[in-house]
Amino acid sequence: MELIRWLPFVWITMAVVSLDGSIVEGRYHFHKIKNNEDSSYSISQSPAYPPSDSPDPDEPGNPIPDPSTFDVMSFGAVGDGSSNDTNAFRSAWKAACAVESGVLLAPADYTFTITSTIFSGPCLPGLVFQVDGVLMPPDGPDCWPKADNTKQWLVFYRVGEMTLTGSGTIEGNGGKWWELPCKPHRGPKGTTLPGPCESPTVSTYDATNSGFTQLDELICLNELAYYAFQLIRFFMSTNLVVSGLKIQNSPQFHMKFDGCNDVQIDKLSIFSPALSPNTDGIHIENTKSVSIYNSIIANGDDCISIGTGCSAVEIENVTCGPGHGISIGSLGVQNSQACVSNITVRNALIKNSDNGVRIKTWQGGMGSVTDISFENIEMENVRNCIILDQYYCLSKGCRNQTSAVFATSISYKNIKGTYDVRSPPIHFACSDTVPCTNITMSEVELLPAEGELVDDPFCWNAYGIQETLTIPPIGCLLDGEPDSLSERINYEC
Ligand SMILES: *[C@@H]1O[C@H](CO)[C@@H](O)[C@H](O)[C@H]1NC(C)=O
Ligand SMILES: *[C@@H]1O[C@H](CO)[C@@H](O)[C@H](O)[C@H]1NC(C)=O
Ligand SMILES: *[C@@H]1O[C@H](CO)[C@@H](O)[C@H](O)[C@H]1NC(C)=O
Ligand SMILES: *[C@@H]1O[C@H](CO)[C@@H](O)[C@H](O)[C@H]1NC(C)=O
Ligand SMILES: *[C@@H]1O[C@H](CO)[C@@H](O)[C@H](O)[C@H]1NC(C)=O
Repeated sequence: MELIRWLPFVWITMAVVSLDGSIVEGRYHFHKIKNNEDSSYSISQSPAYPPSDSPDPDEPGNPIPDPSTFDVMSFGAVGDGSSNDTNAFRSAWKAACAVESGVLLAPADYTFTITSTIFSGPCLPGLVFQVDGVLMPPDGPDCWPKADNTKQWLVFYRVGEMTLTGSGTIEGNGGKWWELPCKPHRGPKGTTLPGPCESPTVSTYDATNSGFTQLDELICLNELAYYAFQLIRFFMSTNLVVSGLKIQNSPQFHMKFDGCNDVQIDKLSIFSPALSPNTDGIHIENTKSVSIYNSIIANGDDCISIGTGCSAVEIENVTCGPGHGISIGSLGVQNSQACVSNITVRNALIKNSDNGVRIKTWQGGMGSVTDISFENIEMENVRNCIILDQYYCLSKGCRNQTSAVFATSISYKNIKGTYDVRSPPIHFACSDTVPCTNITMSEVELLPAEGELVDDPFCWNAYGIQETLTIPPIGCLLDGEPDSLSERINYEC
């Protein structure tokens, strides 16, 4: 291959560009490209497409390489499943980032291994990160470089108008992480020791600077989005499309969007075993205008979870399960303010899950969760098909508090199917002091998957109406409005 001649140059380039650690910045090239009228000239300077190697366009069987496609193989990737392809991806990112509609291509029939990397923008618009082969992190804790960030792997930071797509697979290699006994444990004299091994979550957790003092709570921190490992993370980015990929076996969360705007997710498949811990499918927080369409998620935790700061979220044609269902929350942890509004879940199938559609808030929070609509949802053997829990707590030590995240204008329409009789199918446990209001139930028909209903629907301090009679009948919703909502200021968002 002609390419061989260029490899030393590629490696030197990479040595220079990787001086800034694992953050690959794309903006580096901006001026060069922007000030250059003929952008193909710039590209021809790239070691991947040296001018003398340009194929003759007239020669048959010699297709012109698309100048805006940056195949990682041209940047030194090996793709044999064991070589370290990190530098090839980082260099290809820099190149693709610097041209308009650049495509970073990880071609089919190869398995690429890269270590934790922040692919950073800003980039020129239209960037595509295309995985047609398999892309994965090193296999398990023994293989992760000690210096690497163990909380996140594929990170996209400050990118705009970018697509992550392809016909390939992002393989999380989570198996060895799931087996780790990594939870912090009790040390002498009431201290807490970190886990006995480097966990993707716990290693960066600083117990001394946290309000979490109780050991039980500490152990469960893995379940809070903030502390969980993320396989793919989009941070402070806008105008994103993620489509077509298969994403599987993440050590913990598969995808997280945080501080983003305008996110379109379509035709994703996310798979992890039902018993893999904290393997949430898609988590979003502080992110607005999100659509999640036509996707299948089977995992060991929430299918989709929506944290604070989200609004205008539309979830349609999604199949969940096994897993923990679609969840809004947990909100209001450690007396924080949470604001979630305008969330629609439509045409979903939820099967063999611990929850169906769930809203969970901690006691003592502030803010509100409002304008939530669950519509046309089929349940198959689901525990807690409809659950609103304002007493969410991961330990036994949660005190009763007076403030709460205000839950209002929540509608459940055409929710049908079967439930697992171990839990009541409908459960509204609202705060003692801040009732839930304006709950609407319409065409809710849930039957036992097998056996008999043990518990009736449960309501506590929940105000709302049934537009049609539900099955099982729910007699516990309170009519009208509560007399007063105290300290209204706490619910403002
Ligand atoms: C792979 O290469 C990257 C970039 O040079 C480096 O940071 C990382 O430690 C390497 N990974 C392994 C497993 O050696
Ligand atoms: C609610 O979200 C939808 C997208 O799901 C959006 O089209 C609509 O404008 C939003 N409504 C309000 C009042 O913000
Ligand atoms: C949901 O699925 C239906 C039926 O396949 C399809 O017509 C509709 O376009 C899908 N919705 C979205 C948002 O893709
Ligand atoms: C907190 O309040 C709930 C609802 O009133 C009650 O069932 C529970 O026993 C209380 N817990 C404590 C620890 O006081
Ligand atoms: C009650 O909720 C419905 C949506 O479920 C909404 O259309 C209506 O405006 C809400 N009413 C009040 C008084 O907020």
